[in-house]
Amino acid sequence: MTEQSPALDNLLTESRTFPPSAEFAGQANAKAELYATADADREQFWAEQAERLSWDTKWSQVLDWTNAPFAKWFVGGKLNVAYNCVDRHVESGHGDQVAIHWIGEPGDTRDITYAQLKDEVSKAANALTALGVVAGDIVAIQLQMIPEAIFAMLACARIGALHSVVFGGFSPTALRARVDDAAAKIVITSDGQYRRGKAAPMKANVDEALQGAESVQKVIVVKRTGSDLDGETPWTDGRDLWWHELVDGQSAEHQPEAFDSEHPLFILYTSGTTGKPKGILHTSGGFLTQTAYTHNVVFDHKPGEDVYWCTADIGWITGHSYIVYGPLANRVTQVVYEGTPNTPHEGRHWEIIQKYQVSIYYTAPTLIRTFMKWGADIPARYDLTSLRVLGSVGEPINPEAWIWYRETIGANKTPVVDTWWQTETGAIMISPLPGVTSAKPGSAQRALPGISAKVVDDTGTEVGHGGGGYLVLDKPWPSMLRGVWGDEERFRETYWSRFADQGYYFAGDGAKYDDDGDIWLLGRVDDVMNVSGHRISTTEVESALVSHPTVAEAAVVGATDPTTGQGIVAFVILRGDAVDGGDQAVQDLRNHVAKEIGPIAKPRQIMVVPELPKTRSGKIMRRLLRDVAENRAIGDVTTLADSSVMALISTGLQSGKEE
Ligand code: WT7
Repeated sequence: MTEQSPALDNLLTESRTFPPSAEFAGQANAKAELYATADADREQFWAEQAERLSWDTKWSQVLDWTNAPFAKWFVGGKLNVAYNCVDRHVESGHGDQVAIHWIGEPGDTRDITYAQLKDEVSKAANALTALGVVAGDIVAIQLQMIPEAIFAMLACARIGALHSVVFGGFSPTALRARVDDAAAKIVITSDGQYRRGKAAPMKANVDEALQGAESVQKVIVVKRTGSDLDGETPWTDGRDLWWHELVDGQSAEHQPEAFDSEHPLFILYTSGTTGKPKGILHTSGGFLTQTAYTHNVVFDHKPGEDVYWCTADIGWITGHSYIVYGPLANRVTQVVYEGTPNTPHEGRHWEIIQKYQVSIYYTAPTLIRTFMKWGADIPARYDLTSLRVLGSVGEPINPEAWIWYRETIGANKTPVVDTWWQTETGAIMISPLPGVTSAKPGSAQRALPGISAKVVDDTGTEVGHGGGGYLVLDKPWPSMLRGVWGDEERFRETYWSRFADQGYYFAGDGAKYDDDGDIWLLGRVDDVMNVSGHRISTTEVESALVSHPTVAEAAVVGATDPTTGQGIVAFVILRGDAVDGGDQAVQDLRNHVAKEIGPIAKPRQIMVVPELPKTRSGKIMRRLLRDVAENRAIGDVTTLADSSVMALISTGLQSGKEE
């Protein structure tokens, strides 16, 4: 055969579409013309978006791409990011608007207005300055979802210091690697955190991490769990300071200084499946412009009317871009919840939505599938009629989970926006516009106005409609990463070398166009399976499995196979009400996949498991499942959210049946 095999086969078809209602479309922030406006003059378009912000000095040039891949956006402009997220809303007369409805896991609450937020951020900024922190210094923050986490991030932004937020559940080793890589001067943490109804120590881990860490001068400790922790909080005199003792006495007056548009705003480390974590660098003007713009058009946010809730943790980019910066720049009123979704019961999120009349809810497919597993009867007990936009991010959302989300949570009427982006992109890149797009379940559909994305083959040539390949971003965008901290070579190598001739940014994801040219994300290219020469995406087989009424979640891997190269091995979790029907049920599932996408994708083996191994941000660790599928000793499990999962799977397999 002379025909070149495609980068990725296009197997699954999904034909349901959901156009916005006339009512929604009529009131939407973004109208269909936005695409043409942006296409007509991209730089002019972004200049208009930057006008959403308040600039101290206007830029002289929108984009400087002469030193690619190092972009400069809004060149010569100066602004203060924290002023844009806080002060200007108070100045425009909205000081009494609630910025944050905070809910602690044990049930304590705190409502923080914009006027109060301004005071808290100003005091924290004064406190950091008093400790000698200056613009360009790095402050590491390891905190759970408490208001001080947001105050601390904004205080850094206000004085031009970079924050490096480290997820609260990360180990001392992970924290230390990040503190050292950036030579953080200050670490902000808490005494402890509430998780699943119990107080667990936090500072003790930080102490362990910081033994001998030379860059760290001070550790600021928020008191959260206090006497609920067993024993006293360990203390290092001269280094450790209580947040309340340091911050509460500071003046609430603080003059924000304007920084260059390209002044660094933060570093955020991506875990990466192998090797040392990469410190992704984001800067100020472009980042804030794109996060504010996308938060406005993708979620259709109306300041002062909507109540918004993004369920991410500030330890991830979603928390940075869509809890802190974009939403606050847009004068959001938002819910911030400290705890886990099943504490004290599995209806916790719905109870919060009902109580606070949440209208925009943004979460991850992994959680949606967990809700499916818990059963539709749980959300049915609550009044969710305040909801008007639902969002998803983090992984491909299977059509079935998408439909469940819209029907069960969105009363079969709210638009669902499947937003594709990355830590590196800083903000949403590919997503439906809720008042414009006829949504297709499982597709992120189209690059947003102002953004350009393509699906290309191995040679960098764009594939046709119906074709599969690699997702690239072929034009610079305002919130793009500006580098990997301290490692220019790694930045070029990871993102810009694959399609260096074309100058494309390689996202590492597989994708396809459908017949209308809409984009479907197909998972990381490292996960693509090769079965008898067919390049099959894990996402498509997983989606086919989840479309079976008994399946809540599925993870699929390719395992070495003597005849086909790789064979498809699937791990499935059944829905709450499904019974494990043994051999026959497994046969039914295999046939179901064959029917949905074709015999080539029929799993060689299906294993029913109680849990799947996931990273702490909810991504399935297929590497570990490949170890199981190939009967190998299981590799490094240190980044697993729950380290007991692999034991559960192995035990389940020994007692369960294989095909
Ligand atoms: C990777 C980036 C962006 C915030 C959370 C994750 C996957 C993300 C989608 C989506 C399909 C998605 C991609 C991407 N991903 N959103 N809507 N559809 N895949 O940030 O940890 O940097 O991960 O998440 O594989 O490359 P991240």
